[in-house]
Amino acid sequence: MATSLTAHISGGTQPSAPSFSGLRRICPNLDAAVSFSHRVYSSTRLVSSSRRSPRGVVAMAGSGKFFVGGNWKCNGTKDSIAKLISDLNAATLEADVDVVVSPPFVYIDQVKSSLTDRIEISGQNSWVGKGGAFTGEISVEQLKDLGCKWVILGHSERRHVIGEKNEFIGKKAAYALSEGLGVIACIGEKLEEREAGKTFDVCFEQLKAFADAVPSWDNVVVAYEPVWAIGTGKVASPQQAQEVHVAVRDWLKKNVSEEVASKTRIIYGGSVNGGNSAELAKEEDIDGFLVGGASLKGPEFATIVNSVTSKKVAA
Ligand code: PGA
Repeated sequence: MATSLTAHISGGTQPSAPSFSGLRRICPNLDAAVSFSHRVYSSTRLVSSSRRSPRGVVAMAGSGKFFVGGNWKCNGTKDSIAKLISDLNAATLEADVDVVVSPPFVYIDQVKSSLTDRIEISGQNSWVGKGGAFTGEISVEQLKDLGCKWVILGHSERRHVIGEKNEFIGKKAAYALSEGLGVIACIGEKLEEREAGKTFDVCFEQLKAFADAVPSWDNVVVAYEPVWAIGTGKVASPQQAQEVHVAVRDWLKKNVSEEVASKTRIIYGGSVNGGNSAELAKEEDIDGFLVGGASLKGPEFATIVNSVTSKKVAA
């Protein structure tokens, strides 16, 4: 497996050297159980000094600011959320990180009125168009009214539990962007898809649905969240995550533009915690995290936010 992957990589299938990302190293340890032999888009690259950003963060292939989102999902009570807010307000957060939390809709107002402005707020979903007679839905207009700057769309729980489809999710993204919300656009494969060697196919199809719908990528963060890693405690290895992130960035380069590939944050989600975030953050194409369970604990979430520092010492 590793041999064929290496052969694909060194085969250099890219038509020209990617000027946006300099040179970067390949993933050294491949999970033998995972079949990625059919397509690998990265060429062999090493970190080059030209990639160092002016703000001193190194080991980043993209040019966007580190981004960490906390997805609280359907958790919390007024009391537990008050405690979480007070822990977040007391935390010291590295300056060069965009930090966002995504509370359940019913607590957004509470969070907005008591959380530090240092942390922005996201909805966990939004309706596909303007609000109206759509029982049980939440509109983009309402999220904005409450002070949200972001919305998570295409999360695997909405895809696979609720049954949302690619095209519908793409339309939601387009509408949210048109109204000025940023979109955290989630993609990711199920375990059986990974085992069948379809990881890239699935991720690219989901990515294409966003690309086909959105007018601009300026306000989009891509979250790669392998379904098998979400809420399972089975985090992807840094190499597994990096491999997909490289492929996503190269897909953006080929199918959208070099500029979008460079500036779009590609964040990882799936069992990220305070103990594994630093190692993951060292990977060049991991531009941050989307965190579920561990974002419900203020100090641990702060540790994950501050894992940006492991990029700085990686040079
Ligand atoms: P998890 O969830 O960190 O609990 O695995 C991640 C997510 O669903 O965004």
